[in-house]
Amino acid sequence: MTSTTHNEPPSGWVDPEPSPLLLLLGQASDTGSERGVDCPGALPAPSDPDLVARATRAKEALGGRVFVLGHHYQRDEVVAFADVTGDSFKLAREAAARPEAEFIVFCGVHFMAESADILTGDHQKVVLPDLAAGCSMADMAGIDQVEDAWRTLEEVGIADSTIPVTYMNSTAAIKAFTGRNRGTICTSSNAETSLKWAFEQGERVLFLPDQHLGRNTAVMKLGLSLDDCVVFDPRKPGGGVTPERLRDARMILWRGHCSVHGRFTPQNVDDVRERIPGVNVIVHPECRNEVAVKADAIGSTEGIIKTIAAAEPGSAWAVGTELNLVKRLASQFPDKRISFLDKTVCYCSTMNRIDLPHFTWAMESLAEGRLVNQITVDPDTAHWARVALDRMLALPGA
Ligand code: 13P
Ligand code: SF4
Repeated sequence: MTSTTHNEPPSGWVDPEPSPLLLLLGQASDTGSERGVDCPGALPAPSDPDLVARATRAKEALGGRVFVLGHHYQRDEVVAFADVTGDSFKLAREAAARPEAEFIVFCGVHFMAESADILTGDHQKVVLPDLAAGCSMADMAGIDQVEDAWRTLEEVGIADSTIPVTYMNSTAAIKAFTGRNRGTICTSSNAETSLKWAFEQGERVLFLPDQHLGRNTAVMKLGLSLDDCVVFDPRKPGGGVTPERLRDARMILWRGHCSVHGRFTPQNVDDVRERIPGVNVIVHPECRNEVAVKADAIGSTEGIIKTIAAAEPGSAWAVGTELNLVKRLASQFPDKRISFLDKTVCYCSTMNRIDLPHFTWAMESLAEGRLVNQITVDPDTAHWARVALDRMLALPGA
């Protein structure tokens, strides 16, 4: 575990066995994972009618000492308190640009809070209102697995000519691995620029941990073929790929995916086109390639918002991304017909962990002088992760 969280356990607290249910409830620790770290503290009742007033009072009491960042997938009740909203790239920049704030309250998921801690000064404290807000995609690449994979590339004789490009949605340990091995971080809004940079540094890319963002960017933006890509499965010996295929590949894609965006299917696109004639389909690049090629446009969360904001009044849009954002777009742009690409509800369950009770609890605790749910990354990991993050921030157009 490269990042730690700081909370005083309540007296009599016994660290329970990390059963799947306790992890899901955020009541147990799993030190090897992004999710399911304990979240002690007396939370206000969700039914408390004063929650908005309480959170407002706490924020006012903290004044300029606190800066609240909100990812676009957060609930409306939380976004209402954000000083700035954005995708993961914009929020990383915003965190780095607020040296005056003593507390950065990150309404997003664990890996984003880690990145904020890496990019902010030692005098600043990053707080994640619910420690169970992890990311299943980030958990699909463990540092031991990635180091094993790199050893495989060394044995095959291609590590020296391979550049790791790591999606922001990864643990700090994987970002540090990337920094140590001449690689860069990317986000969904700058993956193309990052990959172009990487291909100037080496012959091939090891793309971690989202195979879909890697494949979509390589094939749809850089003009590589699907055959240029191989999927490295960390659970299989040698990644389940022959040494010849690894040597020939331009993109070695880690077998990871987003459980939210991975749900959209090509059938969803066909169905919505039938239901809404003339509809424009826009999807996030974490969607599968079979879905992305059927869409009219692809965009990061920030890109989706900009595209829809600039669209003609009266135009119809089916959006393939997290439902909190799609619902917000629909209410912000009533002059456009905005619908969710899938017929079934699809929220990111870990993003949704940050709710008004957790937010109020975190803000009141800070206002009362109790630092809770701090996310810190150990200095060595932070140093190398920052090397990789700084490479990304220095890319043209970043
Ligand atoms: P972006 O915010 O970079 O678009 O990423 C989407 C996402 O899945 C965040 O967890
Ligand atoms: Fe992780 Fe996907 Fe949720 Fe983003 S939307 S936090 S990638 S599971």
